[in-house]
Amino acid sequence: MDLPISKPVIIALDGYSSCGKSTLAKQIARHLHFLFVDSGAMYRAATLYFIENNIDVAKDNEVNNALENIHITFKNIDGENTTFLNGRNVESEIRSLQVSGLVSEVSAISSVRKKMVELQRQMSSENGIVMDGRDIGTVVFPNADIKFFVTADPIVRAQRRYNELLSKNQKADLHEVISNLEHRDKIDTERADSPLRQADDAILLDNTHYDIDEQFSIVMDKIYKAIKGLS
Ligand code: DC
Repeated sequence: MDLPISKPVIIALDGYSSCGKSTLAKQIARHLHFLFVDSGAMYRAATLYFIENNIDVAKDNEVNNALENIHITFKNIDGENTTFLNGRNVESEIRSLQVSGLVSEVSAISSVRKKMVELQRQMSSENGIVMDGRDIGTVVFPNADIKFFVTADPIVRAQRRYNELLSKNQKADLHEVISNLEHRDKIDTERADSPLRQADDAILLDNTHYDIDEQFSIVMDKIYKAIKGLS
């Protein structure tokens, strides 16, 4: 689908953990031929590096040295956006509960955020970008053309994440998934640097009662209306 506009469009999707932002962002990007960027995958890849290299996240010098050795890239493999850490495919490892358990602490560190935001702002595409995360509409691209803030009931979110882990043959315990989500919501919304919050000009989308197709059609309708205003 081509859009009647002359400049690359930026669509920012922010919201709580496990409310389907990446799934939605991928659908939009595929439909509009935009670049999809999963900014959470970048924080996850950095966290995996910290775990594997026994970096003490409380020590600034260890964190800063580590950041110089972290190179994160994305490649399209069999139609799937895939995350690489220093040339190694880490797409599956970064989704583990071990990484999920530490990623909010790592992403609350300002030097980590500074590096990730720089990388995110360098990503560009001829048609446009759909980027999902926590601070895309507020910090990374405050002038994004269209912003959504996605939320859903926490129990529904936990059940979705649990099903996702099972479908990928990863070890999962529903109570552990619930407590991980509560933990991440708390840190993501309360951290000092770039806390998760709805941008003033973001469209609120509570998808508790929507399935993926319903959500997609609601969102595309809003995107087309917003884009008409841009052309
Ligand atoms: O989207 P996700 O659940 O994969 O993100 C993992 C963590 O990364 C999330 O708990 C908070 C952090 N994150 C962030 O701080 N800023 C972003 N733009 C994206 C993710």
